[in-house]
Amino acid sequence: MTILVTGGAGFIGSNFVLDWLALSDEPVVNLDKLTYAGNLTNLTCLDDDARHVFVQGDLGDRALADRLLAKYRPRAVVNFAAESHVDRSIHGPEDFVQTNIVGTFRLLEAVRAYWGSLPEAEKVAFRFLHISTDEVYGTLSKDDPPFAETNANEPNSPYSASKAASDHLVRAWHHTYGLPVLTTNCSNNYGPFHFPEKLIPLMIVNALAGKPLPVYGDGMQVRDWLYVKDHCSAIRRVLKGGRLGETYNIGGWNEKPNIEIVHTVCALLDELCPKADGRSYKTQITHVQDRPGHDRRYAIDARKIERELGWKPAETFETGIRKTVQWYLDHPEWVANVQRGTYRKWVAKQYKETNE
Ligand code: NAD
Ligand code: DAU
Repeated sequence: MTILVTGGAGFIGSNFVLDWLALSDEPVVNLDKLTYAGNLTNLTCLDDDARHVFVQGDLGDRALADRLLAKYRPRAVVNFAAESHVDRSIHGPEDFVQTNIVGTFRLLEAVRAYWGSLPEAEKVAFRFLHISTDEVYGTLSKDDPPFAETNANEPNSPYSASKAASDHLVRAWHHTYGLPVLTTNCSNNYGPFHFPEKLIPLMIVNALAGKPLPVYGDGMQVRDWLYVKDHCSAIRRVLKGGRLGETYNIGGWNEKPNIEIVHTVCALLDELCPKADGRSYKTQITHVQDRPGHDRRYAIDARKIERELGWKPAETFETGIRKTVQWYLDHPEWVANVQRGTYRKWVAKQYKETNE
């Protein structure tokens, strides 16, 4: 048996592949385009491991998907591949439409043809698991209940609109063609291999480099944080036992305003890597222009996955964030590597425009 993973060189995908192969001997075929966010060094420890087959390519390349499906005959496809950064989607939405919508559509079509050709027993066992986000639900006010699976989709950014569109395609391929799909909608992840364009790793690497810590607007926007390995365990649980055609929300029950996250990161760095001048990293915090259309609050009601599949996160925010900060302190070469080249151009463009 084999699974096909797309986007397995990115942040969550590489954590998923590493955990999968640590827990089982079932091979993984990993299809990833290696955009700026894809990083094969995340998977260096699998270099000599025959259970991991890496293929560089686009999930929208139908001929390639057809070939991989025919050759490796996976029993499941887990679709992580996406453009994932909201700020980039504001600067340039086209890649998001192309990868997240058109790419998912083409992959669904390849999988539909492959699935249709399977013998009955394999057909029944097959799964297409689509990895999505809580951002498809839009934004919450302070006193709203957390997002449930029954909430309407009200996406507000080009990124979330493209993810919502892909979720709808997946849903339609189930209802129309009977494709055995599952969808997960997860809250903000953090942990090892998180690309330092996103809040937590950006704050860690900027703090250590003595650079400003750019907090958008008043910093009171709320996110619900989940340690990446808990997301991976939830995905495995849904793949194993999720009901066909269903969506499962995944979250950490960890709602926190951004400014509190930044303070926590600074306090951990003050403890684990104190500055030579004895001052706190908090002195580097600067408030910058807000993100256009910035969603105010996300929160996930994760009771369905707990009730139906018995999943709960293993980490609290306190344990997960400590591990994460320590991981970045222990991997300066990984940070230096991802900060080369186009990363610098992105930082210059994004933070110049927000007066940082
Ligand atoms: P990421 O940006 O770190 O990684 C994305 C990966 O997809 C990269 O390896 C990239 O090379 C690859 N990729 C991009 N375009 C591709 C294409 N056209 N063909 C093949 N590969 C391509 O993203 P991430 O944070 O790991 O997110 C993974 C998935 O999880 C995404 O679908 C995202 O929407 C979803 N998600 C992310 C979070 C989060 O907090 N990061 C939360 C919920 C859901
Ligand atoms: O909710 C799940 C989503 O979480 C995923 O679907 C996305 O792929 C992922 O990128 C993430 O989206 P966010 O926009 O919430 O994450 P980001 O890390 O970019 O920002 C988190 C919050 O921090 C958000 O309110 C914006 C704010 N922020 C971010 C950056 C990069 C800042 O204040 N300053 C910054 O420099």
